[in-house]
Amino acid sequence: MRITVFGTGYVGLVQGAVLAEVGHDVLCVDIDADKVAGLEAGHIPIFEPGLEDIVRKNHSEGRLSFTTDAARAVEHGRIQFIAVGTPPDEDGSADLQYVLGVAGTIAGHMAEPKVVVTKSTVPVGTADKVRARMAATLEGRNSDLGFDVVSNPEFLKEGAAVADCMRPDRIVIGTESAETEEMLREVYEPFNRSRDKIIVMDVRSAELTKYAANCMLATKISFMNEIAGLAERLGADVEMVRLGIGADQRIGYHFIYPGAGYGGSCFPKDVKALIHTARENGFEPTLMQAVEDRNDTQKTVIFEKIRAHFKGDLKGKTFALWGLSFKPNTDDMREAASRVLMEALWDAGAKVQAYDPEAMEETQRIYGDRDGLTLAGTKEAALKGADALVVMTEWQAFRAPDFDMIARRLSTPAVFDGRNLFDPDRMARKGFAYYAIGRGLGGPA
Ligand SMILES: NC(=O)c1ccc[n+]([C@@H]2O[C@H](COP(=O)([O-])OP(=O)(O)OC[C@H]3O[C@@H](n4cnc5c(N)ncnc54)[C@H](O)[C@@H]3O)[C@@H](O)[C@H]2O)c1
Repeated sequence: MRITVFGTGYVGLVQGAVLAEVGHDVLCVDIDADKVAGLEAGHIPIFEPGLEDIVRKNHSEGRLSFTTDAARAVEHGRIQFIAVGTPPDEDGSADLQYVLGVAGTIAGHMAEPKVVVTKSTVPVGTADKVRARMAATLEGRNSDLGFDVVSNPEFLKEGAAVADCMRPDRIVIGTESAETEEMLREVYEPFNRSRDKIIVMDVRSAELTKYAANCMLATKISFMNEIAGLAERLGADVEMVRLGIGADQRIGYHFIYPGAGYGGSCFPKDVKALIHTARENGFEPTLMQAVEDRNDTQKTVIFEKIRAHFKGDLKGKTFALWGLSFKPNTDDMREAASRVLMEALWDAGAKVQAYDPEAMEETQRIYGDRDGLTLAGTKEAALKGADALVVMTEWQAFRAPDFDMIARRLSTPAVFDGRNLFDPDRMARKGFAYYAIGRGLGGPA
């Protein structure tokens, strides 16, 4: 099938490449001319395992191409996916200007009926707005061409985006039209072989499903972080509690890891947006507000432990920081806990020597040559002469380090572990002052 995808970010690029991989003829369009020129030249702007291979292969085999030419893009596909950003507005609501802009573009150029599929995460009622924008644009052109608007939220995880799109848990399709449903079944048929993963529902339920999924996951994390804070004060070990509750199948082991707070482009903004939607509809979202508040506080927990350890005197101290991305296997630093920590350290007069396996370029792009930040070439180099080590992302490469080497390179043997990677007893035996999340108050061995 001929498919057009608007937006070549995490969602659009991965979905476009995966649709091409199974044989569809995909044209991706973006307003960012540099990104498009780079993609046409084989440069992949984000790090996602497996993405580079399938983009290059499908591009060279002619099933995947990139353009900035919106008219050509609209002409290409009977199906038009919208996968552009929906960043938070100042009041926390989702900013729909890019989504509605694309709706206007499609209606402005279309010369045959189109099916418009919203993949961006959008508040309930957005399909109506897309429909209205398209109808108004078509009316302005004196056109009576037909179109349909479908909600098809994306559930991929950054860091495993290609695998998630190749083998989705479920495919949610929000439409009331049997003909449109049939067309989308054809698009997704190659991903729907082992069992029927397609769940068809009304558009509003599909839009809400995406927010409910992300808010549920964020709730699990904030819940566990709250239990961790309590465990510290009660002399309990949250890692034992995690194992103890995860064994209950009604709870399960997924997403109950305590840590330094969730980040990324989705959970923070989607929780905020659902809070906004609830209030707009006269309904107080007490639980979601608590989830957000807990997370905001959680992002400061490691800094508070550092401050207490150094008795409030951080001026001139240097911290080795391992992990900048908001989670492993991505270079995405949007809303990362590492950023909150670095900014607090800088405000307190400290310096940071940072290392991340993939997010170094992104850190450079965000912070440039900022005073107080040194980008280290290796995790070992980040330690040199530092007063303490702080771990903020659970990359595999950080899980079993050479602790003797760490002790030799640090001027004082202190480790702050924002992801509970290390064993407190072993750290004590090695002579470290060790601080983790929810595993006692920590401190000198
Ligand atoms: N990143 C994720 O893990 C994830 C997962 C599921 C859903 N989502 C949702 O998918 C949407 C996209 O997220 P993302 O992370 O891919 O965003 P992104 O910011 O990485 O990419 C968006 C892209 O859209 C382009 N764009 C903006 N306006 C355009 C226009 N008029 N025409 C063509 N291109 C245009 C931008 O230049 C950019 O390249 C958001 O609503 C997000 O909430 C994201």
